[in-house]
Amino acid sequence: MKYQTLILHNGNEIDKATGALNIPIYQASTFNQEDVEIHQKYTYARSENPTREALEKTVASLESGKHGYAFSSGMAAISSAISAFIEQGDHIIATSDIYGGSYRILTQFFNKFGVTTTLVDTTDLNNIKDAIKPNTKLLFLETPSNPLLKVTDIVGCVEIAKKHNLITILDNTFMSPYFQRPIELGIDVVVHSATKFIGGHSDVIGGVTVVKNDEYAKKIYFVQNGFGAILSPQDSFLLLRGIKTLKVRMEESQNSAIKIANHLKTLDWIEEVYYPGLNSHKGHNILKTQASGFGGVLSFKTKNVEQVKRIMKNVKLWAVAVSLGGVESILSYPARMSHYAIPKDQREKMGVTDNLLRLSVGLEDPDDLINDLEDAIK
Ligand SMILES: Cc1ncc(COP(=O)(O)O)c(C=O)c1O
Repeated sequence: MKYQTLILHNGNEIDKATGALNIPIYQASTFNQEDVEIHQKYTYARSENPTREALEKTVASLESGKHGYAFSSGMAAISSAISAFIEQGDHIIATSDIYGGSYRILTQFFNKFGVTTTLVDTTDLNNIKDAIKPNTKLLFLETPSNPLLKVTDIVGCVEIAKKHNLITILDNTFMSPYFQRPIELGIDVVVHSATKFIGGHSDVIGGVTVVKNDEYAKKIYFVQNGFGAILSPQDSFLLLRGIKTLKVRMEESQNSAIKIANHLKTLDWIEEVYYPGLNSHKGHNILKTQASGFGGVLSFKTKNVEQVKRIMKNVKLWAVAVSLGGVESILSYPARMSHYAIPKDQREKMGVTDNLLRLSVGLEDPDDLINDLEDAIK
């Protein structure tokens, strides 16, 4: 079965109880137990809910995994996945320009339990090898990274991880399973902010985690059920609905992103364009070996900060907002939004300077989006 068909027919789309073509919102916290001596599947909705279960099975299937878990946010998915594997005194190696929230929990929360993190530029595999210590447990990757779209060699990382017994977690938010399926490349745990491309409509905060290994699945379920940061039935329904159009949304935003990236490169007020779909992007060739597309997110630097302010003040079609992956195009300012949690000197070292803007390309006509940016700067 081709992937496009799997999105719609993965075995989790029809409600077994009624035959409905959409899994209903099972808005129930608890379930009648006919005989308490006999184990029944659904007892209490923190542990299992049929709408959430349909979503979890769908994402597991789309990520080529076996077990999926849905959380109340991407950060809940990421924190729960990390919690499932670490113990006091462990060491984590993470991509240096990860999402600001991931940076925050690694450096300001897990450190409270004696878990240390070394941030390295994972685009150079030697940096990972050099950072490994006897107590290193996890390799946390985000590729393409946020917001500079740096590409890490996934297979190279998996090889290092296997050699040193590290568990690999990869944040696949930017690519979505439509373009990149890290489990097929040997990654142990995939995490997503489902708020973004999986949901696709800027109306849900959610997260998912997918694994193939049964033991890892038990560990993640233990944290999901124990911490209880589960996704609600209503939000699970919305994500299931969003997923149905994943292919068309991803293809359309990518086509427009390519057009916009190529156009921005020709403008004299642009200092640099970061989009892995451009031949000139450092990660272009690696991405081609590990993903089937380049995604719908790009970033650019203007010549000065004044221009950034002018664009944000004057754009009409682009929403100036945090987040990405929705049907409507979004312009964000990483230095003040997604990466504000990272201290300025650290941020600048990562390349997240005050003249950097990030674009999440939605489904509007790309010419209108280009004109809007050009009018704004004028
Ligand atoms: C790459 C990435 N990972 C994780 C997150 C966190 O997800 P959420 O906001 O759903 O908690 C985000 C949010 O912007 C993100 O961009």
